[in-house]
Amino acid sequence: MTLSKNNQSRESIGKIVWRCPSNIAIVKYWGKKGNQIPCNSSVSMTLSKSFTEIELSLSEKKTDEKISLNYFFEGKKNVPFEERVRKYLSDQYKYFPFLKNYALEFKSHNSFPHSAGIASSASAFGAIALSLLDVSRILRKQTINEDFFKKTSEMARLGSGSACRSIFGEFALWGKNNSISGSDNRFAILLEEIHENFRNFNDSILIIENEPKKVSSSAGHSLMNEHPYAKNRFLQANNRSFHLKNVLKTGDFEEFITIAESEALTLHAMMMTSRDYYLLIKPGTLIAIEKIMAFRKETKIPVCFTLDAGPNVHVLYPASEKNKVEIFLNNMFKNSVKEIIFDQMGKGPEKIR
Ligand code: PMV
Repeated sequence: MTLSKNNQSRESIGKIVWRCPSNIAIVKYWGKKGNQIPCNSSVSMTLSKSFTEIELSLSEKKTDEKISLNYFFEGKKNVPFEERVRKYLSDQYKYFPFLKNYALEFKSHNSFPHSAGIASSASAFGAIALSLLDVSRILRKQTINEDFFKKTSEMARLGSGSACRSIFGEFALWGKNNSISGSDNRFAILLEEIHENFRNFNDSILIIENEPKKVSSSAGHSLMNEHPYAKNRFLQANNRSFHLKNVLKTGDFEEFITIAESEALTLHAMMMTSRDYYLLIKPGTLIAIEKIMAFRKETKIPVCFTLDAGPNVHVLYPASEKNKVEIFLNNMFKNSVKEIIFDQMGKGPEKIR
């Protein structure tokens, strides 16, 4: 259709399709305040093959409800997620004045299996924010520029914190850090100086378990409010974000490994030491970690692990070692894990249509 109400725009938007990748944090965001404001800065790598693709169609609104919305996931109506998106749209109503006149239909598809421990809310809210901001942009007759991605990152953050980092490719930093100019709590920024050691970095995900999360990340974040180690943890993460920014620039594998692995263990240590303590790692997680560390020691290949808020193990390694590490992963884990997803660093979101 042509969005021509009030002659606002002649650019035909028909159906908008955006693809937004997921991301894996190297320095973890864990703890938030106010309106999705992180308690510390975080740094992530944007993936390539693990993405959400969303088609947004607009039609003339025929009812007088405030928001007219349909959300389909993998071809089926997804009521719980539709309600989450409805709340998001209602909270951000003032930013999307077209909601007054148009009914929205989202058709969403993930390239990765459900509950694979890949941050699906990051890629989904990234893609939702991209398609909504794209409508606004077309109505305002603006082009896709730096400002578009900055604004989109901010709107994605309001849906799911870590989603704001998925709007940028390669490595992104989110959260105010006094040592990093341009850093901001409202949106992520691209880390521009990346050594070739870290270009096309790989992330292979060992699916230890594919059951849904026992504890939601919002519940986890809120446990940081009264966590006895919170203050030091936030300080540590800020220092590490700054340090990692330099490590990515100098290409120092050893330091990268130390930061990535300690961050993964610290994230889970925070969960285990909160008032309502809980445990997300499984015996298979520890077995995988030990095997990866032993393989590194034996081969001197700079391969390491990180964890998200779940039992699955992300194996990180440079492109130059891809063949050797993939042979190792297939031989060692093929029969003991549910699945291995071979992913790598990506260039960020893509407009498909
Ligand atoms: O974006 P959220 O609220 O789902 O939180 C994500 C938190 C971690 O994935 C555990 C870490 C991170 O920085 O992505």
